[in-house]
Amino acid sequence: MTLRLVAGATSWDIKAHCAMTILVTGGAGFIGSHVVRRLVQRYRDYTILNLDALTYAGNLENLKDIENAPNYVFLKGNLLDKGCIDDVFGSYSVDGIIHLAAESHVDRSISGPSAFVQTNIQGTVNLLEAARAAWKDGQGKRFYHISTDEVFGSLGQEGRFDENSPYTPNSPYAASKAAADHFVRAYGTTYGLPYIISNCSNNYGPNQFPEKLIPLLINNIVNHEKLPLYGEGKNIRDWLYVEDHAAAIDQVFHQGTIGETYCIGGGNEWENLELARLLCSLMDKKLQHAEGSSEKLITFVGDRPGHDLRYAIDDSKIRRELGWKPSVDFAEGLERTVNWYLQNTRWLSHVTSGAYQEYYEKMYSGRDHRRNTPS
Ligand code: NAD
Ligand code: TYD
Repeated sequence: MTLRLVAGATSWDIKAHCAMTILVTGGAGFIGSHVVRRLVQRYRDYTILNLDALTYAGNLENLKDIENAPNYVFLKGNLLDKGCIDDVFGSYSVDGIIHLAAESHVDRSISGPSAFVQTNIQGTVNLLEAARAAWKDGQGKRFYHISTDEVFGSLGQEGRFDENSPYTPNSPYAASKAAADHFVRAYGTTYGLPYIISNCSNNYGPNQFPEKLIPLLINNIVNHEKLPLYGEGKNIRDWLYVEDHAAAIDQVFHQGTIGETYCIGGGNEWENLELARLLCSLMDKKLQHAEGSSEKLITFVGDRPGHDLRYAIDDSKIRRELGWKPSVDFAEGLERTVNWYLQNTRWLSHVTSGAYQEYYEKMYSGRDHRRNTPS
């Protein structure tokens, strides 16, 4: 058994006497850490359990400020270990689940899809099974599955994804998330499991592992390394500040309708090249570099296989039904993000030491650096 009580409670057998016990999976990762912090700070009478395997992407430093909160419990455990999940349900009366744990990086899914099948599909099914066994009638319970807009595939220059968009996942990551979404829905239809799903666009902000575009660019600018843009840098993503996603998750969990899907987005589309230029200009100011010096680091490299051209979300349902909308505009969010990475150099050097160097070498050394003059 790998389950272990680490912080925030005095014994493994402690039972929740509070208003609600919520099991968050993947709470030591990027989005999960913002969700956990928000729930711990806003709902003092809840018990927030954070179940996380602490893979390369999980980092307890993300939650240092709340690790001793009396309503917070960290449980180190893997979703692929059924005994561990059973232990959680045996030890706590879980009222709700917010399921974020996943392998989350598209490029890793291209070089090694199996881990994505394991964690994202099998891990989700293991969690669904445990919830089904524990929640006999499901009354008052909710299984909230956090998914991505990537399950809908790629858009052309027009249109946006919404709750009725067909599933056409293109990357192994997207396929594994799509399969998980289908399993969650199937458990609702077949066993009556009370579920909600949300599909969100690209997040950015503090705590994001620097394999993803924005923190990778920040880290490389700091280190005067090339800024690799795939293909022509023309792909478009809809960026949402991570705390806005955490707020949406809080609202959907508490107010969303069982059996419904909610699309969450930033209404903030950026072509990768334009985003990189914006970030370079901001970094030049922050680092007091000559204007235009970071932009010279932009390099176009071999494209990602199956690279989706464009993602964009129509979030009118969550706006209309739950009153949620993004509150942090891109200029403000990027400023906060850059400041965070510049102030948290220890975090950055910790996560980019050792295994990250090997990852970076493997992912980028094989790509042809075609030119470094942005068109
Ligand atoms: P992340 O990679 O930063 O964090 C994932 C967390 O899950 C890590 O803490 C890791 O240790 C944990 N984990 C991985 N495998 C596990 C396992 N087998 N058992 C237990 N824990 C495990 O991911 P993220 O970017 O924070 O994404 C969180 C969720 O949100 C994912 O489900 C992802 O698909 C979804 N999502 C992410 C984005 C985005 O832009 N990052 C956008 C939409 C949806
Ligand atoms: P990423 O942050 O990996 O998110 P996702 O693929 O899930 O959308 O990538 C965002 C965009 O940036 C995507 O179009 C791929 C591109 N990209 C690069 O051009 N260079 C890079 O080094 C990375 C990591 C991504």
